[in-house]
Amino acid sequence: MSGIVFFKSKDLRMIRDFYQDKLGLKLWLDQGKCMIFEHRGMLIGFCQSEVAESQGTITFLYDSIALVDAAYLRYQDLATSPAKLNPAFNIYHFWAEDPEGRTLEFQYFLKAGEQNPGQDVIEVLNEDPAKPKLLLTRLLPEKAMNELKDFFEVHANIAHRNLSKTELIAHIADKAALLCLLGDDIDESLMNAAAKLKVISNYAVGYNNIDLQAAKARGIAVCNTPGVLTESTADLAWALIMATARRIPESESFTREGNFVGWEPLLFLGQDVHQRTLGILGMGRIGQAVARRARGFDMKVIYHSPHDKELDFAAERVDFETLLLESDILSLHLPLKPETKHLIGEKELKTMKRSAILINTARGAIVDERVLIRALQEGWIFAAGFDVYEHEPEIPQALKELPNAVLLPHIGSASLETREQMGSLAARNAIAIVQGTEAPARVV
Ligand code: DGY
Repeated sequence: MSGIVFFKSKDLRMIRDFYQDKLGLKLWLDQGKCMIFEHRGMLIGFCQSEVAESQGTITFLYDSIALVDAAYLRYQDLATSPAKLNPAFNIYHFWAEDPEGRTLEFQYFLKAGEQNPGQDVIEVLNEDPAKPKLLLTRLLPEKAMNELKDFFEVHANIAHRNLSKTELIAHIADKAALLCLLGDDIDESLMNAAAKLKVISNYAVGYNNIDLQAAKARGIAVCNTPGVLTESTADLAWALIMATARRIPESESFTREGNFVGWEPLLFLGQDVHQRTLGILGMGRIGQAVARRARGFDMKVIYHSPHDKELDFAAERVDFETLLLESDILSLHLPLKPETKHLIGEKELKTMKRSAILINTARGAIVDERVLIRALQEGWIFAAGFDVYEHEPEIPQALKELPNAVLLPHIGSASLETREQMGSLAARNAIAIVQGTEAPARVV
């Protein structure tokens, strides 16, 4: 094998555990002597032998600042520097250290003219000191922006990236309201810096990004956007069902690339959807909307949920194991909580049918992503359709390479009408709490 950078290593097992378990990279053993992993076409090896002499840094390249920030949040315990811009090289990066003291660098090269992340990206959109102040972490559809500006003085992030924790903390001190996204980590450290904060209004139905206990302890209300995105998210779950079952992305690329040379009996054989069994894990609003659509496909619907549901369509409540055993298509509609993290792991994926399809439009960490990759590589199940990821926005390279995975960028609620309604509801939540009235959708 040529073109490998070898590093000398004392303890290969420790190295494997670190790079595989901590960084999620797939390492393999070469000639029984070296652990090797591939990163963006580059091979990096760790060897006990004397041939491995390389010193220096292992660099992980990312495609955006947001991905470096996400890596920073994920590997914070390894970091030896904050994530920041290095203007001398026009890179945004942070340093970390592996267990044998090697330097790791996680970096993104800024493109010419790209927003300097060191600059303040918060702009006051409607200066009006008489109004309460709101920090808005990303611009929303126009209708919601107008509703917010009518009541608040809006301090908004105008950049095309999420704010870092440092930026959030720097801007929260004098704000009465925070309107944030599911990718903003709203924890105790932020709330400690938010002396005037009355409300955290999340622009999402899920609120696993917010420390509810910390908010409650400080008397800060937390609100979300349930209901308005139910139907759009159910539509998208169905788009994933059809795309995975009938191998749409694969066959679309094949056609576009000029490979279609005539009808073939065995070309892109998939799975039928009609008259199959649809399994729903979590029969809440979105689960029901997905299940209701199955009537048109003449499907049997089974579901698992702690209690029987009063439903306006036929569906049978079953135990978790039966759901795994019998579903041809299993669609996840649970919130992410400590109890639901990695609910779908090795045992569950091995219990499912080899012809089964797993759909996730809920939260990535409900599925153990590393095990899912093995399941798809080794054919424990037929395919997976995912809109959400365990370490969003990072998606493991191995998952991206799988033809039997259909991957979308968390767009379940992404229709203009729905995003407008979410914006309006998030705005009304924030306004109501600051006014001291009842918010339409308050969590705590
Ligand atoms: C939510 O609202 O929680 C979705 O994941 C994004 O719309």
